[in-house]
Amino acid sequence: MNRNDSSEELEAFLRHLKESRGFDFTAYKRATLQRRVQRRMAQVGAQDYGEYLDYIQVHPDEFEPLFNSILINVTSFFRDPDAWAFVASALIPRLVELRTPSGEPRPIRIWSAGCSSGEEAYTIAMLMTEALGEAAFKERVKIYATDIDEEALTAARRGSYTDQQVKDIPEELRERYFEHAGSEYSFKKELRRSIIFGRHDLIQDAPISRIDLLITRNTLMYMNADAQTRVLSRLHYALNGGGFIFLGKAETLIARSPNFEPVESKQRIFAKVMTAGVAGERAPEGWEPMKPVEEETAAPAQSLRELSFSSSPVAQIILDANIRLVSANEAALDLFALARSDIGRAFSELDISFRPIELRSHVSDALKLGVPFNLQSIPFPGRNDAGRWYDVQVAPLIDSGGQGIGARITFIDVTMARLLTEELERVQSDLETTNEELQSSNEELETTNEELQSTVEELETTNEELQSTNEELETLNEELHSTNEELEAANDMLREQSAELDQAAAFVESVLTSMKAAMIVLDPGLLVLTWSQRAEDLWGVRPNEARGVHFSNLDIGLPVDRLLQPIRDCLNGRLELFELTVQATNRRGRSFDCRITLNTLKDKEQTARGVVLLMEEERTPDS
Ligand SMILES: C[S@@+](CC[C@H](N)C(=O)[O-])C[C@H]1O[C@@H](n2cnc3c(N)ncnc32)[C@H](O)[C@@H]1O
Repeated sequence: MNRNDSSEELEAFLRHLKESRGFDFTAYKRATLQRRVQRRMAQVGAQDYGEYLDYIQVHPDEFEPLFNSILINVTSFFRDPDAWAFVASALIPRLVELRTPSGEPRPIRIWSAGCSSGEEAYTIAMLMTEALGEAAFKERVKIYATDIDEEALTAARRGSYTDQQVKDIPEELRERYFEHAGSEYSFKKELRRSIIFGRHDLIQDAPISRIDLLITRNTLMYMNADAQTRVLSRLHYALNGGGFIFLGKAETLIARSPNFEPVESKQRIFAKVMTAGVAGERAPEGWEPMKPVEEETAAPAQSLRELSFSSSPVAQIILDANIRLVSANEAALDLFALARSDIGRAFSELDISFRPIELRSHVSDALKLGVPFNLQSIPFPGRNDAGRWYDVQVAPLIDSGGQGIGARITFIDVTMARLLTEELERVQSDLETTNEELQSSNEELETTNEELQSTVEELETTNEELQSTNEELETLNEELHSTNEELEAANDMLREQSAELDQAAAFVESVLTSMKAAMIVLDPGLLVLTWSQRAEDLWGVRPNEARGVHFSNLDIGLPVDRLLQPIRDCLNGRLELFELTVQATNRRGRSFDCRITLNTLKDKEQTARGVVLLMEEERTPDS
């Protein structure tokens, strides 16, 4: 995407925010906006503004983090301590002295505009209380603290800050103005009531009025120059006559505004200049009524005067009361190409009466009213066509009786002054442009700085979260470690028990093997539990085939049906021991008399847990 496409997309995106949410960021500097919006785009994985717009429409929750990203809330108590020291030592004493017309101390109204999470408002509250004492502070001072960001205002209203946030407050002030509980420092409740927090958009909303001290720091610098000028003119209106405005250290646009004059420009503190009404017409300062023309006393003096007049480098002509040319000195004759024969002609017949400028009406007025007229910087090429400028003065000549007897027109060459002024203006304008560029770079630097600071704060939070997750993981790890150790101990025990069981099983097995009789153990459901080696030898069924099979389902050469009833009797306690001999067939198909002994298998509580069947071939005395 090229640069133009991207900036058009950004404009479309800003328009959408304005129309859908009423948030107008079009007055903010594009570089910052671009960076802040793109930061969110990266976080949600949007490739361009269009994609991000789609995302926002599907996820309206995204508005909040987006606004948080654009409205940078970096702030601190006593931010720029030197500036606050000046406020405390030079401004506050002047505010404290404010009086009503009847001489009573009057209320003091302060506005912290763009107050973020409130640190600035509480800073001025502490300084005002230091100057006035608590009682007078509560009685006289109202601090309006406003911001466009509701979330920041919620934090400001709470007035509770962490160790880290209060670290810039001098210790004695922190102790005097904050209640400390746990890890929180809360600004004193009784004083907090004098601070009124509210949402206010400096660009769109009407300003709060009759303010004595307006603190709006590091807020205007996010806006473009036009918006800053508009906001400053509203803020001018907000201030009382002689009220002060206190800006951030990178905010210098105000220095060029005629509406404010510096109080301490280094600390960006200015005072409101009252705009004057239209001044009435007044005679120019220093103007003195004309002295009466002196009596002509001596001829030498007369000729000296004439000589001086005629040789003066300033072009002059004299007209009589009938507005005829009476005299013109050498410079005038030369400049306006007048001939000596023009002396005595009506002024209106001469070119000079209208070139370089219309003079006839001025001459009549000067004679009629007895006042001079000054016409400044009149261009006239003169004879050699070089661009020259003249200040023209038409002055009435009044005799000792107060009678207007003529007029003198003087043409003072101001070409050099004019060229110098033009050069000066050009240099000044260059200087202003450089200054503006410098200021805009300065503001850009400051906003970037704040962005960095806000990113650092976010990183610190993430880091703290990671640290706490890490701590949790470590505890979990230790818990697992100990569980593991317990499991290992249990495992060792099980292993030992298992070995013991194996031994016991081997022992039982060897007992069973060494018995002459075959043994079958049945559970109460008549399923085979134990099937000895001898049973296999006798019936040809292996232990693993027999185990778990119902006794009546065993396919062996034994009349199992005949045994079922006595087995049940043993299980239900009717019998404990039962013996019988049946005809059976062994695994080889040989028929024999099988002697069977049934025993009830009992546990410690004497409850029947099964039946033990012992089987062996009955030996007759002759067998
Ligand atoms: C960087 S903070 C400055 C806080 C404090 N004034 C300071 O200097 O420490 C800028 C504040 O201006 C607020 N802001 C931005 N645009 C605003 C507007 N149009 N109206 C009011 N406040 C605005 C932001 O929400 C943010 O809280």
